Amino acid sequence: MLSWEDFDESGLEQSAPTVRVNQAPVAGDAPAAATDLSVVQAKGQTAQPHSAKTAAAAGPGRGDGPSLQVSLAEAPVADRHRQEATLQSGAPAVQRVGEAATATPLESAEAVAPGAMPSSADASSGTDVFPSEGVFPPAEAARSAAAAAAVADDAEGHRAAAVVTELNARRQPAERYERVTVDQKAMINCRADLNQLVPFKYDWAWQKYLNGCANHWMPQEINMQADVRLWKTADGLSKDERLIVKRSLGFFSTADSLVANNLVLAIYRLITNPECRQYLLRQAFEEAIHTHAYQYCIESLGMDEGEIFNMYHEVPSVARKAAWALQYTKEISDPTFTTGTPETDQTLLKNLIAYYCVLEGIFFYCGFTQILSMGRRNKMTGTSEQFQYILRDESMHVNFGIDVINQIKLENPHLWDASMQKMAQEMILDGMALEIDYAKDTMPRGVLEMNANMMAEYLQFIANRRLAQIGLGAPFPGVKNPFPWMSEIMDLKKEKNFFETRVIDYQGAAALSWD
Ligand SMILES: [Fe+2]
Ligand SMILES: [Fe+2]
Repeated sequence: MLSWEDFDESGLEQSAPTVRVNQAPVAGDAPAAATDLSVVQAKGQTAQPHSAKTAAAAGPGRGDGPSLQVSLAEAPVADRHRQEATLQSGAPAVQRVGEAATATPLESAEAVAPGAMPSSADASSGTDVFPSEGVFPPAEAARSAAAAAAVADDAEGHRAAAVVTELNARRQPAERYERVTVDQKAMINCRADLNQLVPFKYDWAWQKYLNGCANHWMPQEINMQADVRLWKTADGLSKDERLIVKRSLGFFSTADSLVANNLVLAIYRLITNPECRQYLLRQAFEEAIHTHAYQYCIESLGMDEGEIFNMYHEVPSVARKAAWALQYTKEISDPTFTTGTPETDQTLLKNLIAYYCVLEGIFFYCGFTQILSMGRRNKMTGTSEQFQYILRDESMHVNFGIDVINQIKLENPHLWDASMQKMAQEMILDGMALEIDYAKDTMPRGVLEMNANMMAEYLQFIANRRLAQIGLGAPFPGVKNPFPWMSEIMDLKKEKNFFETRVIDYQGAAALSWD
């Protein structure tokens, strides 16, 4: 049974309802007089007290006396439906039939308005106390339930409308409630209620959320034993291969935290669409899984955690990438920052381009390619498998971000002016240059049948693609992808292989005792 405390000022339910069970067949459907507490007691029926919380919240005349409680599972169907609808609507779970039939909407609104405790008179006339089994014959009770449910449904509609009217009267015009329509929804600067996921406007965002959930995985499901053996064997990997493993874990172990923090501390607040926020929440969890995966690799391999996690301060090619991304978070992660002017909207757009098109869309690709190339050569296969699933998630993050950017452009074409387009192109080319520097730093020589020049070509190919995805021209015509196998790895059809290879015994997989 919901208590009055379960509703906040907006009438939204704050906590899950707790429905207690007894054998009572009828809820709020008996004649008011017959369900008066005193009558029930006079008939010698067993009365059960409210829960302590309900009693405390109910106020005089309600919580003081004993009461009976009802089981949704065992109430007649019509009655059960009414109660479920009541629970879902956020209105009180208790139906006062006598009042529902006669009360005006305004009186009913007062009865459910927060802070307006029912009077003691309500307790004697209301039916929030229920007779125990045997008080009414079942057939009569069922008829009574159906009739009362129809009355209650009608009364409930009036009462809900009155609640809205009454609450809206207390609110500022901008805060007043109305049902959300698709037309009111917008990516940024939306005034509609953001607590209502539906009706969907951006089906693509919801679909990406579903796809992200379908790809769920956890780092400890991947066997790291072969990696540990190879890493601890003196000549298991070449010096250049070891450098790649350490640099990759060094960059990614903090990069995903940068992304996660930007998501939850900056972007989430400013993207004003519930289905996109639903995806952002999923993405934020995936970023946590990615950071977990890197930490899991670092711990499994017995690396110096201080050295690895501080590379984004101490290794120039890593630090420059992190610093580049952070400059675009600074302004919008200020809690006082708001969008709503062309300048501030463009600041948000720049952040989205920096994080989705560059950090996740370019900065990840040298490291991903290097580690996955290692896995293709049967080296560091556990680490490579972790990276494979991370890459799969990341490719969806990038696609989502590009959809968001393009939707904002579509809804706010004035933001995508010549200077903004020039800025976007410069940002993507800047990012590409930093990633080429990273490739040179991590591949001073050819390694794993690749080298820095091949990686530069690959990064030009990716930069072309990112620019084209946001509607800008490709500055490197004719450039080819030197690593076509990377596209295969991102292919979601490989999902079956993933589930075939991962560890089933979760408890065993959680233990870090590979050696
Ligand atoms: Fe990530
Ligand atoms: Fe990501």
